Amino acid sequence: MKQTTPVSRSGRFAGGPAADVAEFTESISFDRRLWRQDIAGSMAHATMLRQAGLLTQRELRAILRGLDAIGREIKAGKFTWQSELEDVHMNIEAALTRRVPAGAKLHTGRSRNDQVALDMRLWLRDQLVELLGETRLLQRALVQLGEREQGVIIPGYTHMQRAQPVYLAHHLLAYVEMLARDSQRLQECLARVNVCPLGSGALAGSTLPLNRELVADLLGFVDARGCPQVTQNSMDAVSDRDFAVEFCSSAALLGVHLSRLAEDLVLWSSTEFNFIRIADAYTTGSSLMPQKKNPDVAELIRGKSGRMIGNLVALLTLLKGLPMTYNRDLQEDKERLFDSADTVRATVRLCAAMLDHTQVNRESCRAAASDPALLATDLADYLVRKGLPFRQAHHAVGALVALAERLGKPLDQLSLAELRSVEGKFAADALRVFDLGQAMARRELTGAPGTREVGKQLARWKKLTA
Ligand code: ARG
Repeated sequence: MKQTTPVSRSGRFAGGPAADVAEFTESISFDRRLWRQDIAGSMAHATMLRQAGLLTQRELRAILRGLDAIGREIKAGKFTWQSELEDVHMNIEAALTRRVPAGAKLHTGRSRNDQVALDMRLWLRDQLVELLGETRLLQRALVQLGEREQGVIIPGYTHMQRAQPVYLAHHLLAYVEMLARDSQRLQECLARVNVCPLGSGALAGSTLPLNRELVADLLGFVDARGCPQVTQNSMDAVSDRDFAVEFCSSAALLGVHLSRLAEDLVLWSSTEFNFIRIADAYTTGSSLMPQKKNPDVAELIRGKSGRMIGNLVALLTLLKGLPMTYNRDLQEDKERLFDSADTVRATVRLCAAMLDHTQVNRESCRAAASDPALLATDLADYLVRKGLPFRQAHHAVGALVALAERLGKPLDQLSLAELRSVEGKFAADALRVFDLGQAMARRELTGAPGTREVGKQLARWKKLTA
């Protein structure tokens, strides 16, 4: 049996684990991306150890210098990661101790269990800040497209059947609203991520006089008023991964929202709809059919939501029934979290870029929106204004739709006599209902796709996303 000797085995063990065990249990292949956070956490911890009298000033200086040098080496790609050292924490600590004898004091009052929880929170905090900015840019791209095409009207659909006319901007602003709620969720997640677990030790804190608030303060774990935020239960702090679940959940929902937008774009760019043209740079060709231009970016945005849902389910499954406190199962959290963060951020960025490179075919939109059947409900509302109960009005207009179909003409081409043959309350002004411009002006309620209201909402979002 081939054996290796990692540092965590010192003392207790006669030899290292079997080679295939090391390979099975390592996390360095994926957690090395936490190196920045690991070094920042260690620097803050060491600074606190000095204040607690557990390091001399000289030891602290040596540790900080050593960590800084390691950080520069990693950044330059010159650091040798050793898989027998298992994870990012032990790789960095071992490298430090090789250079600086005081490195052996760095782990005082600390466990990898609170260290890894710290690193992940620091990492996720940065990701959340970036994602929130990117989400705002996506909202801005939607608002700008809506503004550029402010007068464009398209059919709104239910059951994928033409229903009522809406401004294209109104349709796009629906996604801006979804993204606003996604951002709120991410903000709330950020507040719960931003709590420092260091000082929780392996599971039961430490007998040493550590200053948790100082570490929290040094690492920016503070609330809006600048008060340090530290976890309040050591067992919870080392075994809780709610913050990762919450993030993966919010990311999955954001991804699901974008999958719907992507599906709209796929449909709209088809020859059947022809509402939009996505720039060549955001489409691909077919290896066989020379005429094809496929909306692959939109399709992948739709598809990527699947892996984010998968990551969420994987994390929840990982945590279900896990006994207190830290168990090695938790190492499986990182790839899911990393993947969700990478995926959601790429999806948001690509979606914004694609929208910036999408043109609207106003003529096709106009042709589709001029289908008079879209205003059948307006015709029923006309009868309601004339005093007819809505159910009767609905029935009368339904009969007119059937009549027009039988006569083979559009709804707005029926004569007054034909209208009156179904319902006597129709007068000469009835057909004015089919003036699309006026129909859009009449939709005045808050949240309705009316001309004034959509203008108001566009202005509101333009300001909010500026
Ligand atoms: N690589 C581990 C993880 O990702 C770090 C914590 C290990 N702790 C331990 N007691 N083995 O969870």
